[in-house]
Amino acid sequence: MTRYLGWPRHQSVEHTKAFLEFSEAEWSRWPAGPYLIESSSDTKLLGTTGLSFESRTLAATGYVLAHDSWGRGYGTEALTAIVTIARELGVLRLYALCHPDHPASARVLEKCGFQMEERVKEFAVFPNLNPGRREDCLRYTRQEPGV
Ligand SMILES: CC(C)(COP(=O)(O)OP(=O)(O)OC[C@H]1O[C@@H](n2cnc3c(N)ncnc32)[C@H](O)[C@@H]1OP(=O)(O)O)[C@@H](O)C(=O)NCCC(=O)NCCS
Repeated sequence: MTRYLGWPRHQSVEHTKAFLEFSEAEWSRWPAGPYLIESSSDTKLLGTTGLSFESRTLAATGYVLAHDSWGRGYGTEALTAIVTIARELGVLRLYALCHPDHPASARVLEKCGFQMEERVKEFAVFPNLNPGRREDCLRYTRQEPGV
C-alpha cells in the first residue's frame, strides 16, 4: 500500500504526532492542507489525500487508500473532490508525482484531467520501495482553462 509513497511508513506514535503538527501548520499557513477520505455512507476511514501549497496558485496533491478500498473508484472520487476544492481556492496549476511503474495511479490522474508533463530523471526517493536510490518520477499537471 505504501510502496509508491514519497514518505516513510510511520514507525512510532511520535512520528504520527509530528505529522499532525505538520498538518496543523499547513492549515494555519495555507487555505488547505491534508484531508482524510471517509466513506460517505458510514464515515469509515478509507485513506488520505490533500493539498500541499507552494504558492497561492500552485499546489501538489497525492492520495493513499487502504488496500481493501482499492478498485472501487474511490481514488478517482477523492481526486475529483480535490480538483474542485483547489479550483475554488484559486489554484491554477495542480500537480502530482507518480512512479513510472504505477499505472493505477497514472490512470486516476488521467481520468481527472491531468496530463503527463515530463519524466523527471532520478527525481525522488521512495523510502518504502528502495530507500537507497533516487527514482524517476512522472510529473502530472492539471491546469485551469485560460492559464
Ligand atoms: C492508486 C490508488 C489511489 C488508486 O485508487 P483506486 O480507488 O483503486 O482507483 P480507481 O478505482 O478510482 O481507479 C483506478 C483505475 O486504474 C486502473 N488500474 C488499476 N490497476 C491497473 C494496472 N495495473 N494497470 C493499468 N490500470 C490499472 C483501474 O482499472 C481504474 O481505471 P478504470 O476506471 O479506467 O478501469 C490506490 O491503489 C492506492 O491508494 N494505492 C496506494 C497508495 C498510492 O500508491 N498512492 C499513489 C501515489 S502516486
